[in-house]
Amino acid sequence: MPQTTAIADTVHILQNRCGTAPEVAVVLGSGWATASQRLAEAQRLPYSGLPAFVGTAVEGHVSELAVGRLGSQRVAMLRGRSHTYESGDCAGMAGAVRALQAWGVKVLIQTNAAGSLRAGMPPGSLMLISDHINAPQRSPLVGVAGSGRFVDMGAAYDAPLRDHARQQAQRHGVQLHEGVYLWALGPQFETPAEIRMLAAWGADAVGMSTVPETILARHAGLRVMALSLITNMAAGLGEESLTHAATLDQAQASGDYAAQFLANLISSLPDTDGLQR
Ligand code: HPA
Repeated sequence: MPQTTAIADTVHILQNRCGTAPEVAVVLGSGWATASQRLAEAQRLPYSGLPAFVGTAVEGHVSELAVGRLGSQRVAMLRGRSHTYESGDCAGMAGAVRALQAWGVKVLIQTNAAGSLRAGMPPGSLMLISDHINAPQRSPLVGVAGSGRFVDMGAAYDAPLRDHARQQAQRHGVQLHEGVYLWALGPQFETPAEIRMLAAWGADAVGMSTVPETILARHAGLRVMALSLITNMAAGLGEESLTHAATLDQAQASGDYAAQFLANLISSLPDTDGLQR
């Protein structure tokens, strides 16, 4: 199905099933899944019934959109994202992001699991993403027409939304680190030599997602905020060897804490008019 048709059909389904769009959508990455259990009056729509959405087969992710409320804030939660390492296609989330924007969503909050490059940011830490490094230099906008594709990435992660996250962290006694997230294509983990190089580049955390979706969201005019849950020290910086199972275990161990912070942060978001740019 051509993407424009898939997006129009998806918006139609979302309007019929859920009515007007919430202002906020959240991508739940590894470890953040329990946030969706906090939704009140949740409607669950499998991606298989949303033509613009692509499912994921990665362990720890389901492929479902959950729409409901956190406090008085309506929110759409994407339980699972397709990763570039699954297919080689870095535009796997293009249809989903564009359908959410066409439905009326204004803010995309992304969450992920990441490895830490900072000694003072151990597993279990939360990091607010201040900026990113697109290390693979791949873009989901390749092939998109029009001058809109030359997206300004100078302030990709929205300053007022980051202020809000810092305020909420302070209010709830949560230690919130802030730093630069580097996208590594994966699926293999990095070598210690690569991590030393990436540290010299200015990376604070490394992970295999988020950056393509941030580019897509900025292209679609959405405001973006992103949070990393640190699941391990990056290669060569810790004692343990790296496995997906171990990162998922650590994500699960700190996931409730992360999900609680996320829920507080979202339920206290003023509407976007109140979050001045
Ligand atoms: N590297 C890449 N991706 C990751 C890591 C890591 O160390 N931890 C969690 N996701």
